[in-house]
Amino acid sequence: MKENQKQHQVFIEGAGLSFTISENDSILGGILRSGVGIPYECNAGGCGSCKYTLIEGDVVDDFEGSAGLRASDKRKNKHLACVSRPQSDCVIEIKPDAEYVAKTRPKRVNATLQSVEKLTHDLWEFYFESDPPARFLPGQYAKLSLPGVAGPRSYSMCNNGNNDGRWGFQIKRTEGGSASSFLFDNAVLGSRITIDAPYSIAHLNEQSERPLICIAGGSGLAPMVSILHGAAKMALEGKRPILYYGARTVDDVISKEYLDRIPHFDVEKQYIPIVSEVEPGNSWSGPTGMVHEYLAESLDDDCQDCDYFIAGPPPMVDAVRRHLILERKIPVEHLHYDRFY
Ligand SMILES: Cc1cc2nc3c(=O)[nH]c(=O)nc-3n(C[C@H](O)[C@H](O)[C@H](O)COP(=O)(O)OP(=O)(O)OC[C@H]3O[C@@H](n4cnc5c(N)ncnc54)[C@H](O)[C@@H]3O)c2cc1C
Ligand code: FES
Repeated sequence: MKENQKQHQVFIEGAGLSFTISENDSILGGILRSGVGIPYECNAGGCGSCKYTLIEGDVVDDFEGSAGLRASDKRKNKHLACVSRPQSDCVIEIKPDAEYVAKTRPKRVNATLQSVEKLTHDLWEFYFESDPPARFLPGQYAKLSLPGVAGPRSYSMCNNGNNDGRWGFQIKRTEGGSASSFLFDNAVLGSRITIDAPYSIAHLNEQSERPLICIAGGSGLAPMVSILHGAAKMALEGKRPILYYGARTVDDVISKEYLDRIPHFDVEKQYIPIVSEVEPGNSWSGPTGMVHEYLAESLDDDCQDCDYFIAGPPPMVDAVRRHLILERKIPVEHLHYDRFY
């Protein structure tokens, strides 16, 4: 997309780095687009991991109520890189981190809604198409700017990067949420949006030979479907990925027919849905309870050799991580996660 906005220089104090950022870009977006890495996770003001100190210059904070910034942070002139934009040349303090340097630098593209499919009563799959290719790795997410919605929203892609410009998202309706209201109630085929992508370091590493375990809760399914499609193209030599899916009710369980579309994925052997609230009288015969409790009972002793991908609501992701790190002693570098704030 064309940038007609004013440009500003941002200097990272102590790191000897400076780059040019457009006035309508977030500090985080601008830094990643310049080829530098700084810590981040949600890109939505929720986690606080992109906090920096403003030493000189002016920025505007787009999301005043962001949970990632406390009142004490504001008194110390701290801001969140994902929801603040430069209004002049700035000097900031934050530690660059090479781990976060984007393998593909994020870009903004315009895209058009092509199809909608209902996966459950409140989880729908939306496919958009852009003229430029869709460049991302399995497991990454995008920031979607939607008509009439203030600020972008983070949503994970459920397909794989492709030259046809196809971007798939599985979106859960948030009661009263402005982005999901637009998508569920107002969007029509042909609706135009802007996609800013790709983001996240929790992506599939096609060079890794470790078996994969995918653990999702709710809308955390999308990046796992993307990863499973990616894994289908890898030579995993008989090491079949397993998908654990935590659903609140039986109605929230994703159908086997849908997952059957993933090449080489045997839903009977590789898909384990776990329901936390089964209504009395329901005929559900699968596992019940919380995902981390189920993993505590069922993971094999050789689970240390696996790569774990985890996505979904922050309490679910944190409970699973605690179990894997503290009780199973899984090395932290084997855990890859996105919390859906
Ligand atoms: C990395 C990541 C990946 C995700 N992937 C998915 C997915 O694949 N599918 C899915 O259904 N959900 C996903 N989510 C969750 C999804 O982003 C939220 O549920 C979304 O905020 C709902 O938006 P809404 O407008 O419908 O709801 P609302 O509740 O109205 O949205 C409020 C939220 O929007 C954000 N927000 C509000 N104002 C601003 C602003 N000015 N600038 C930036 N952010 C603002 C804040 O995060 C706030 O909590 C993901 C979240 C993250 C962090
Ligand atoms: S608050 Fe900025 S990345 Fe989460």
